[in-house]
Amino acid sequence: MSKSVYIKSYGCQMNVYDSQRMSDVLAKEGYATIDSPEGADLILLNTCHIRERASENVYSELGRMRDIKEASDKPVKIGVAGCMAQAEGAEIMRRAKTVDLVVGTQSYHRLPELLKLHKPVDLDFPAIDKFDAMPAQSVKGLSAFVTIQEGCDKFCTFCVVPYTRGAEVSRPFQKILDEIKLLASKGVKDISLLGQNVNAYHGGVTLAELMAKIASIKGIERLRYTTSHPRDMGDDLIEAHRDNPILMPYLHLPVQSGSDRVLKAMNRGHTSADYLKTIEKAKAIRPDMAFSSDFIVGFPGETDAEFNETLDLVKAVGFSQCYSFTYSTRPGTPGADMVDQIPKAEKQARLHVLQALINAQANDFNEGLLHKTVPVLFEKKGRMAGQIAGRTPYSTPVQIEASEELIGQILSIKLTSRGTFSHFGEVV
Ligand code: SAH
Ligand code: SF4
Ligand code: F3S
Repeated sequence: MSKSVYIKSYGCQMNVYDSQRMSDVLAKEGYATIDSPEGADLILLNTCHIRERASENVYSELGRMRDIKEASDKPVKIGVAGCMAQAEGAEIMRRAKTVDLVVGTQSYHRLPELLKLHKPVDLDFPAIDKFDAMPAQSVKGLSAFVTIQEGCDKFCTFCVVPYTRGAEVSRPFQKILDEIKLLASKGVKDISLLGQNVNAYHGGVTLAELMAKIASIKGIERLRYTTSHPRDMGDDLIEAHRDNPILMPYLHLPVQSGSDRVLKAMNRGHTSADYLKTIEKAKAIRPDMAFSSDFIVGFPGETDAEFNETLDLVKAVGFSQCYSFTYSTRPGTPGADMVDQIPKAEKQARLHVLQALINAQANDFNEGLLHKTVPVLFEKKGRMAGQIAGRTPYSTPVQIEASEELIGQILSIKLTSRGTFSHFGEVV
């Protein structure tokens, strides 16, 4: 009899990708992936540990899953995967009695064995490449993520990732090219390369060299990459935005703060001037480049004047979109032991100010696209009947009235108006 699994992903795109890979591993074991927990034989929560809130959500979700498990007329297993599993696996087992297995970020290929054991907790960082031990990724549509690098050695003082994903490791470039060739042969046209420090990639070639090789794979028409670190943003990578025809004019480059004192306390290894210099170079090489970033407000000791330096940096860049957060203390990181923590209300107030500025910039960016003609890759049906939806080179969504037969094509679209979430336009 066939079994089913429900997987819920939290956190970043790497977790989304990992969930899909777990789904493929389990498919070989006879599990169909379903999109609700009711009726599933196996429920997996693929967790995030980045902020305190992320972990709290998981415990309340586990309560909900326990109720579903107890109401089911068949045996149900509940598993916890991902970064929170890696960071506090034993505690999860202790605190949430309903949990049957805990699998850390580097052990997903072992899921079939773990399912046969009683309450296993697998938090190893095995020497073998988990990707080699997993079946090829299944294709769903025109776009695919490909993890090329994992882990981090930078130890920013606020961040859990070096502990939850382990040391920085790059996959050998030939394996990546083989994976992308296979995806291309199944109709994938749009690739996003993933890594916690994707531009620190060094799997035998540099990231820019890897991208050049990917550009020569027939069928791949668009390439993106995330997340980059300002310290690893070399000139060759910036120049690839001019020289590599499939590399999109979009750069996600988290800066976190505009204050050099705060950047130093965060152990970021760059100044705000270094960051702005990189942005200026990119603007010179690719004038239409869209920039995005991540910000943390209220890092311990951050003064009003230092927060204002963050606002100044945002004004100097002009972002198309950003992610911004209040600082959240994470156990085990140096930031958690810093004495001058900022009160919650103050952090919230600063976040509101920053987000108002970021939203205004995003609005300017989208307004600036109006009346322009841009190539759009149409990926799926639109929100309304008779519409199809796609993305611009800047990753912003577009909807047009057109036949579904055009899905899969890149068309020149004149952007004629704007809605809340996307542009509308017509084929030129
Ligand atoms: N590797 C990337 C980002 C990884 S985490 C980089 O180096 O920038 C994604 C984002 O979560 C971070 O950019 C940061 O803005 C946010 N973040 C990480 N730890 C946090 C914490 N303790 N409190 C608030 N935000 C945090
Ligand atoms: Fe975290 Fe810093 Fe590494 Fe990014 S570079 S993953 S923020 S430790
Ligand atoms: Fe969260 Fe882990 Fe990603 S902590 S942001 S799921 S790398």
